[in-house]
Amino acid sequence: MIEKCLFPVAGYGTRFLPATKSMPKEMLPVVNKPLVQYGVEEAIQAGMNQMAFVTGRGKRAITDHFDISYELENQIAGTAKEEYLTSIREVLDKARFTMTRQREMKGLGHAILTGETLIGNEPFGVVLSDDLCINDTEGVMEQMVKLYKQFRCSIVAIQEVPADQTHKYGVIAGEALKEDLYRVDDMVEKPSPEDAPSNLAIIGRYILTPDIFDILRDTPAGKGGEIQLTDALLTQAKNGCVMAYKFKGKRFDCGSVDGFVEATNYVYENVYQHIN
Ligand code: G1P
Repeated sequence: MIEKCLFPVAGYGTRFLPATKSMPKEMLPVVNKPLVQYGVEEAIQAGMNQMAFVTGRGKRAITDHFDISYELENQIAGTAKEEYLTSIREVLDKARFTMTRQREMKGLGHAILTGETLIGNEPFGVVLSDDLCINDTEGVMEQMVKLYKQFRCSIVAIQEVPADQTHKYGVIAGEALKEDLYRVDDMVEKPSPEDAPSNLAIIGRYILTPDIFDILRDTPAGKGGEIQLTDALLTQAKNGCVMAYKFKGKRFDCGSVDGFVEATNYVYENVYQHIN
């Protein structure tokens, strides 16, 4: 029912320099798979079949990853090595890929607005591939699609964070409808602990209704001089409804070296060894 998923992948990945000098941060491998492929697999698991990338300069490796590699595949065809291509072949069979470029870095809100041309007038998922989410049964996006079917409004994934971490996230406040579900009435982008409305931080999974595009067009630059998705979502919450969902599963902040190493160890121990 939600067919499209948007991947803003234009950011620089400065925290991983020099590794990301000529390579997109989304292509950093967690064990044997690039980060962005985990995100795409999560979207496919949630029933989505069109992956829309908002890319930028220096990001061509992502486009190439989601294409066939004729020479390589021809070379290893019929050998035991072909099995290493199983996961990416499955992804290519199940989804179509579209790309557009964000020419200037003006924030996450601007990146989402740039993706309008690929999404059009329908609800869509958003995956920030820096956040690697793992759940044995239902992926986080799949959990959110179920909720969307019930509420038909934008949904953000949240998790509790320590008070001294709120400055890294969008933070919500709202009325608890259930123990894992809030109706949002406030939202602040990267507040200091004193200004944070709660310790419920947004992580990089969203379902957005398409009216977000018009709202983003009218959203002035906010925190850091950038157009913030968080600000547009607050407008949406005030005019209608936005839900915040405490997802089931693990989330690793692969935008930081510590989180990336943690994810690598976890995937190696719990995911990779089970399938190899
Ligand atoms: C973005 C959003 C922020 C959200 C975070 C999740 O920030 O602006 O609201 O909490 O992603 O990862 P970024 O991490 O891109 O600075």
